[in-house]
Amino acid sequence: MPTSTKRRSITVTSKRKTNPSAGPVSVVTGAAGFLGSHLTDLLLARGHKVIGIDNLVTGSVQNIDHLAGNPDFRFIRQDVTEFLFLPGKVDYVWHFASPASPIDYLELPIQTLKVGSLGTHKALGLARGKGARFLITSTSEIYGDPLIHPQPESYWGNVNTVGPRGCYDESKRFAEALTMAYHREHAIPTRIVRIFNTYGPRMRKNDGRVVPAFISQALSNKPITIFGVG
Ligand SMILES: NC(=O)c1ccc[n+]([C@@H]2O[C@H](COP(=O)([O-])OP(=O)(O)OC[C@H]3O[C@@H](n4cnc5c(N)ncnc54)[C@H](O)[C@@H]3O)[C@@H](O)[C@H]2O)c1
Repeated sequence: MPTSTKRRSITVTSKRKTNPSAGPVSVVTGAAGFLGSHLTDLLLARGHKVIGIDNLVTGSVQNIDHLAGNPDFRFIRQDVTEFLFLPGKVDYVWHFASPASPIDYLELPIQTLKVGSLGTHKALGLARGKGARFLITSTSEIYGDPLIHPQPESYWGNVNTVGPRGCYDESKRFAEALTMAYHREHAIPTRIVRIFNTYGPRMRKNDGRVVPAFISQALSNKPITIFGVG
């Protein structure tokens, strides 16, 4: 698809113009996901205008249904690996888009690698173009099968690049490296957050992550599955 067509399709969804004198403007990729939707709620509560971008590959509109009609929120359904054109100012780019559970990224290995590489490139490009601050959600998985417990930030990890989980681990490792390259080369203010297991409302019970698996097994009176030696 030519770039001009893509730009037009985004502008059509952007009915409201941002008032430059109003509060900060945040772009949240992965806004229809578990964490992205909670972040969106928090930013709106703090007076931000939020543009949520998501292709709904693992997220759900149900996570942001309650924001319908909120004049400070706009949703754009788009794959962030494609060119991101947004009119108006942007103060913060929060790059949360990525399949995140083992079930999802084992099913979507190429999309996972693309969102960490091409998607992070587009999100960083947006931040650079707008002079915005940038934050990316990385993961404890960048340590792979760690040889040190618990992992300090100074530990570089033990990752199998060719194993099935390599798609997620290496996607996030590349994303961290690209973020630091943009920071060093273009002086963009960047933040990398390595999240370990989080859980809470809006998480899918069957998404394959350990805490929701424990909770749903407990709720249905089933034995709790422990892998390996736990
Ligand atoms: N929840 C955790 O415990 C945890 C742990 C470590 C890292 N993270 C990271 O935090 C972020 C959010 O995770 P989550 O738990 O909310 O997962 P999630 O699957 O609920 O949310 C991810 C969102 O990104 C969207 N997305 C994926 N690829 C996209 C693309 N190419 N274009 C547009 N949107 C796309 C999905 O549709 C989904 O809405 C991810 O980057 C994940 O790697 C989460």
